[in-house]
Amino acid sequence: MNSKTDRSTPTVRTRAELLRQVMDWKRAGETVAFVPTMGALHSGHLSLIEKAREKASRVVASIFVNPTQFAPGEDFDTYPRDEAADLAKLASAGCDLAYLPTVEEMYPEGTLTNVRVESMSDLLDGIYRPHFFYGVTTVVARLFLHVQPDVAVFGEKDYQQLQIIRRMVRDLAFPIEVLGAPTARDADGLAQSSRNLYLTAEERRNAGALQAALHRAAMRLGAGALPSEVLGEARTLLSHSGFGKVDYVTLVDPATLLDLPDAPLREGTAARLLGAAWMGRTRLIDNISVSR
Ligand code: PAJ
Repeated sequence: MNSKTDRSTPTVRTRAELLRQVMDWKRAGETVAFVPTMGALHSGHLSLIEKAREKASRVVASIFVNPTQFAPGEDFDTYPRDEAADLAKLASAGCDLAYLPTVEEMYPEGTLTNVRVESMSDLLDGIYRPHFFYGVTTVVARLFLHVQPDVAVFGEKDYQQLQIIRRMVRDLAFPIEVLGAPTARDADGLAQSSRNLYLTAEERRNAGALQAALHRAAMRLGAGALPSEVLGEARTLLSHSGFGKVDYVTLVDPATLLDLPDAPLREGTAARLLGAAWMGRTRLIDNISVSR
């Protein structure tokens, strides 16, 4: 009767229903991997579900557009939402359960209690989106307590977010293994993102230049070029490729996210190159590993 695309993942909308299911699984000796999302799912999200499936016998995804990580004037109200399509995609990727809490379920008494990973949250995107990572860690901590997973999977696409969550999990001793998954990209290299839907056709044609600029810079840095020169070239390349304001292009320590000195990368070391730039009214971010 149902074709494969008609299937959708079972949903729960309350913490109580979620816990009942997760506790049943755990009593039966199953392990649980968790993939938090804000929906508008694309194949990048689905690659996380697939990774989660390799790591545990059950996979839970959440879809929650988290108000505390949007600043006034950002796109909370217009963030793309398509629950039916998302649930069909989750089913096709092999997700066992989708948790779709309401704002009241996540924040029943508001937001007096917050989780802040200091300093790491104030760098890079934190400069341009103050409070953003405080909203992320606050909601992810709450989601972890709701879902109680053994493993949680996050994308390297949002590299700063991944490293901040790793730090939060260590500092608060959550008994959860955090895994990073590689960035899923379109054919021209553009990192998949729910916000790519905002790009006009022309902007979309130019947007691949962000990854191209970072890739080129990573090769040069890997060959021992001076960071200040390479980062300057990358900014110029972006400006010539239709990007507007470049918020940052920077080379950092992969764990602490602190700037590296302006010297050729030492042999045998790894670093992370991150960039954020505006294409029309859309802010795009990307990053790449650099090693020598
Ligand atoms: P969202 O942007 O929906 O992303 C959910 C997860 O998918 C994140 O771990 C993100 O890094 C990952 N992801 C996004 N695009 C990806 C791509 N192209 N390749 C691989 N992974 C990708 O990030 C959030 O939601 C929120 O901040 C959240 C963690 C859910 C907290 O609200």
